[in-house]
Amino acid sequence: MTRKIIIDTDPGQDDAVAILLALASPNDLDVLGITAVAGNVPLPLTERNTRIVCELAGKPDTPVFAGCDAPLARPLVTAEHVHGTTGLDGPVMQDPVMALQDKHGVDFIIDTLRELPEKTVTLCPLGPLTNIATAFQKAPDIIPRVQEIVLMGGAYFQVGNITPAAEFNIYVDPEAADIVFKSGAPIVAMPLDVTHKALTTADRVEAFRAKGTEPCRMVAEWTNFFERFDKEKYGSEGAPLHDPCVIAYLIQSDLFSGRHINVQIETEGRLTLGMTVADWWRITDHPANVTFMNQIDAEGFFALLTDRIGRL
Ligand code: BDR
Ligand code: CA
Repeated sequence: MTRKIIIDTDPGQDDAVAILLALASPNDLDVLGITAVAGNVPLPLTERNTRIVCELAGKPDTPVFAGCDAPLARPLVTAEHVHGTTGLDGPVMQDPVMALQDKHGVDFIIDTLRELPEKTVTLCPLGPLTNIATAFQKAPDIIPRVQEIVLMGGAYFQVGNITPAAEFNIYVDPEAADIVFKSGAPIVAMPLDVTHKALTTADRVEAFRAKGTEPCRMVAEWTNFFERFDKEKYGSEGAPLHDPCVIAYLIQSDLFSGRHINVQIETEGRLTLGMTVADWWRITDHPANVTFMNQIDAEGFFALLTDRIGRL
């Protein structure tokens, strides 16, 4: 059955690959709309980049909305050091022609969840959780209507990437993450523990290039760009491809495994702000609120990505 999803995103090259994967999978996923949020780069760039990617996928009719331009309670922290000044540095990209929708992204999330039958819409956050938390604060009646939230964020074994203790998406808006993780909606999280096991090796990038299509060429060039940062940082043979894990899970959940555990967000720590305090070893009796993934079939994941994006 086709699953209805809203992608909430801050492209970002890995966000862009996630959007391509979703738009390339119409038999599995019905992308109702894409909401942009401030994160890797400021909102004017993330909404622009989202439209560029929809056009690259040949889907300019996908509704794209601009959401929140700053975290709930803090100044925005961005990641140009990873993604470049545009957020999609690497290949030269054309300005998008397709229009941005007039409605605010948060209102699109609220209206969609209210209009469609309950538990038929899945939220897919790929950036800071500002839009989702704002929607939940503004319209708490939508929370029990959410089918599932499948998000990229957090870390337990890998601890952090933007600080020693925190992963970027959670760190940028910890108050928003706290609201979402406490909401009671079913959550599946793809933390760094998973994404760091799916690296863009030379062979995997070459497999994209070998498809010979424009979207696959872009994926290869984006990958080449952001790899430089992770290769240097981790001494690894490639970079983690974080956000497509969310979409891959919706298409082929058996690529992933993890534990249903309690996860809480640190919003006050002097050194640990934005940490996902995951009770992996079930030390407490706090109720489980998140399926926190830990393992990925990396070969299967990249095979899915190249096959699907190769169809665009
Ligand atoms: C997350 O942060 C962003 O830089 C990526 O797009 C991903 O969503 C990884 O920590
Ligand atoms: Ca992202």
